[in-house]
Amino acid sequence: MSTQGFYVRPTTCATEAGIRDKILANPGFGSYFTDHMAHVRWTKNGGWEPGEIVPYGPIMLDPAASVLHYAQEIFEGIKAYRHADGSVWTFRPEKNAERFRRSARRLALPELDDDTFLGSVKALVGQDKAWVPTPKDDTEECSLYIRPFMIASEKFLGVKPAKLVDYYVIASPAGSYFKGDLDAVSIWLSQNYNRAAPGGTGAAKCGGNYASSLVAQQEAEANGCAQVAFLDAVENKWIEELGGMNLFFVYKDGRIVTPELTGTILEGVTRDSILQLAREEGLTPEERRISIDEWRDGVKSGEISEVFACGTAAVITPIAELVTPEERIAGGRQTDIASTLRRKLLDIQYGRAEDRHGWLTQLA
Ligand code: COI
Repeated sequence: MSTQGFYVRPTTCATEAGIRDKILANPGFGSYFTDHMAHVRWTKNGGWEPGEIVPYGPIMLDPAASVLHYAQEIFEGIKAYRHADGSVWTFRPEKNAERFRRSARRLALPELDDDTFLGSVKALVGQDKAWVPTPKDDTEECSLYIRPFMIASEKFLGVKPAKLVDYYVIASPAGSYFKGDLDAVSIWLSQNYNRAAPGGTGAAKCGGNYASSLVAQQEAEANGCAQVAFLDAVENKWIEELGGMNLFFVYKDGRIVTPELTGTILEGVTRDSILQLAREEGLTPEERRISIDEWRDGVKSGEISEVFACGTAAVITPIAELVTPEERIAGGRQTDIASTLRRKLLDIQYGRAEDRHGWLTQLA
């Protein structure tokens, strides 16, 4: 059996429907996985091999595989949404495919063509369609979170690009990333650690960026915060992003500002979509540098009315406050724009509003 050019080897021990339904009723984020995964192997001499859908399970890696030592690895995050008629769709997958290629170039990994990227997602979701949750109503945010990733599997202890690479796609039913969809979260300002430096890997979606954010995230949690915000590594004054989300600032005069892409910030698909939706809402988007002083002063004077974070996993989440050892800077007094943009985005993703931008692709 083959789908999207992927040979399918179905599992012989699929999760029982009753157990699956229990998981789907309360999936949390990132804890449960579907019955299958996609796999494509690449070798320097032979290129990409035919892809396959295989039972989900542990993968065999040599202890000397270079991903384990030098972190030659990239990944993506993308969601599948169930519409009211039962069909399953995804959102702007070509943007993820393009970013995956950019990340691959930065990490000296082979580029995967967009057709194989999308084909792997379609083949896996087609196989595991029953795992895509059905929202109870128009307010519930639940989806199948899809995680494509590529790792250097070559067994070799020298530092060099691997000649053997594996690409996988796994999928995990997901509810809200944070508890309470529109509950504002507190974030910690990292003062001891930076996430990315000019010329580094900040714009690539690679595991190393996230690994290096963990100690700052631990600091955040120790200080009662859900996430950590990073400043630029050169002047320690310009706001960049959270550990895995972009940031937006709403001004009372209708401007909506997000840090510009300087090579140290991840080019978020949700970020890009918000820039477009905000313009259509009559707001004036600006991509520019924004300093920590502008945040503090803007909130104090009332000029900044809202601050929110966004990402595939988090959608749009209002920021309640930015916490440092010395001060607590409020995140703005309102959440009106955040909730309007969130609703607009979710309505498109779940097929409740017309897809005027051509952002949706049917998966199953
Ligand atoms: C995503 O939003 O998809 C990410 O990869 C970020 C991570 C915090 C889950």
